[in-house]
Amino acid sequence: MAILITGGAGFIGSHTVVEFLNAGEDIVILDNFCNSKPCVVDRIRTITGKEVTLCRVDLLDREAVEEVFKTYDIESCIHFAGLKAVGESCMMPLRYYHNNITGTLILCEMLQKYGAKRIVFSSSATVYGKPETVPIREDFPLSTTNPYGETKLMIERILKDLHTSDPEFSVSILRYFNPIGAHESGLIGEDPKGIPNNLFPYITQVGEGKLPFLRVFGNDYATHDGTGVRDYIHVVDLARAHLKALERARKVTGVEYYNVGTGNGYSVLDMVHAYERVTGLEIPYQIVERRPGDIDECYADPALAEEMLGWKAEFDLDDMCRDAHRWQSQNPDGYPDEV
Ligand code: NAD
Ligand code: UD1
Repeated sequence: MAILITGGAGFIGSHTVVEFLNAGEDIVILDNFCNSKPCVVDRIRTITGKEVTLCRVDLLDREAVEEVFKTYDIESCIHFAGLKAVGESCMMPLRYYHNNITGTLILCEMLQKYGAKRIVFSSSATVYGKPETVPIREDFPLSTTNPYGETKLMIERILKDLHTSDPEFSVSILRYFNPIGAHESGLIGEDPKGIPNNLFPYITQVGEGKLPFLRVFGNDYATHDGTGVRDYIHVVDLARAHLKALERARKVTGVEYYNVGTGNGYSVLDMVHAYERVTGLEIPYQIVERRPGDIDECYADPALAEEMLGWKAEFDLDDMCRDAHRWQSQNPDGYPDEV
């Protein structure tokens, strides 16, 4: 029996595959490499010393997806595959809706047809929109401001309806806060295409001298230093939450929602200063206009995940800085291209 990990070659997926292999599970990765590279899988093998099956398949290709289910005895699925850039989703909404929604529909159809009725889904704190208060609890109102976020909310609803129609399903919806960091080996990490959209990969590239300075988007937010506050979580902690979520999904049916964050909020300048302190590098920055759509503060109340899943973040901000820096300095240009 194997666990299907869609998007298993991506940033969060690759770290999750490592944790599942280390836990002795059989893994089948399904990825079309639209935002990752096949060499990730070799690095996963190096880190774990274990074999992992790779299917280079597009989730939109129904026949190819069905072939995976016919070939392997899939019992559950961790579903990461999706497009994730907010700005791009505003420019190409149809591509985002098609990839993320249609891909999930095809996957769910196969999970049902082949009796693998357990799914852990990558949702995002973006489904809370602009929260009225922090920390954010799972029962807060949901809303979105862009097509990417809309796909996350729609998929949450699709999975809920699926369970209503077929109560044998176990659905675990994990709402991630801001994953950063990398595996301690320095072999796998975040490899954004082009100029990073997100704060932390931008900081690590400035530290490496690949970008001249950080643009801090606004210093007039209602936060302790005026810059935006977020809940940064080490990607290995996040990966481990999937182990716990699947462990529970193997025991109970239903639909459950969990925040996956640390519960700590750090500002943009806190992150700059922490990175400088941990690495000894200088991160020059300039304050610029706010980025449209950004909110003041976003951090989790992670109590439910601790109570129900027995999961809690273990790494701190220094660990995140140290591991991200190791990855960035060992792989200044990210993963090598395919030859
Ligand atoms: P990523 O882009 O590194 O990984 C996604 C993987 O899915 C990539 O390897 C990509 O090639 C693959 N993929 C995309 N569309 C596919 C398709 N149609 N068929 C097969 N493979 C496909 O992203 P990530 O940061 O690892 O994020 C994983 C998931 O978590 C995504 O669903 C993302 O929306 C969600 N998420 C990410 C963050 C974050 O900050 N990184 C925050 C919240 C939620
Ligand atoms: C963003 C997305 C969110 C998505 C998440 C993970 C937006 C509006 N939100 O979240 O939907 O789930 O990424 O992919 O895009 N910052 C700078 N300079 C930079 C980059 C960021 O000052 O160059 C600031 C931002 O204003 C914010 C903080 O850093 O205050 C974190 O930004 P980012 O890493 O992009 O994450 P989110 O905005 O939280």
